[in-house]
Amino acid sequence: MRPMSRCCSPAGYRWVFSERRARADGERYRRRGLDTTSRRVVRMLSRRPVAGTVLEIGGGIGALQVELLRMGAARATNVELIPTYEATAQALLREAGLEDRVQRRVMDFVTASDGVEPADVVVMNRVVCCYPDMPRLVGAAAERTRDRLVISYPLPRWWIRLGLGLGNLLLRVLSRQFQVFVHPPSAIREAAEARGLKAVAKDSGTLWEIVCLQRAQQE
Ligand SMILES: C[S@@+](CC[C@H](N)C(=O)[O-])C[C@H]1O[C@@H](n2cnc3c(N)ncnc32)[C@H](O)[C@@H]1O
Repeated sequence: MRPMSRCCSPAGYRWVFSERRARADGERYRRRGLDTTSRRVVRMLSRRPVAGTVLEIGGGIGALQVELLRMGAARATNVELIPTYEATAQALLREAGLEDRVQRRVMDFVTASDGVEPADVVVMNRVVCCYPDMPRLVGAAAERTRDRLVISYPLPRWWIRLGLGLGNLLLRVLSRQFQVFVHPPSAIREAAEARGLKAVAKDSGTLWEIVCLQRAQQE
């Protein structure tokens, strides 16, 4: 695998997003359903019927895909950088009876997106803040979007920057190859708009903002 950058490596991601954390995420989803931010993503998507195919990049345990399939999506693909979620994700799919409608792939979407089929709906929930090269990640996601791309990211508020900056410092002290990034929302939108999408809806919360970008109609 091509190194992502000096800050981060798959080993760093595996430390933060461990099997244990994936199991805990799975238990939480079984008990309480989707967390608040993921629910906001679903709400934004449900402004129009969700049908056709879904591609989720960095989808973790895949709970969002389970909900989108229940809402009417035909099939989903999950692309994850690391394999730590796979056992929990497969268990959730089995329990929901959706194993045959989801394809799970482990790879860096930025370096391998050419081999991924475009989808009607593409989702990146809390992912751009976990990747150093945001323009390439968002650009590749936009290129695979037939209709709508929904992205959530942390807002660049001073106290969010401060908290995440302290977290990054700790990760560096512990020599963990992982950092969190607060990319400017305008730059995130521009990276998608440069690939023919247009921002059509935005939902700003305390920490996370969600934007929906739609493929501009051809004249
Ligand atoms: C904070 S987690 C979010 C997981 C899930 N989307 C959620 O909201 O619960 C970010 C995830 O993005 C994945 N990720 C980051 N960059 C990626 C890339 N270039 N390709 C595939 N997955 C990526 C990481 O492995 C990690 O699991």
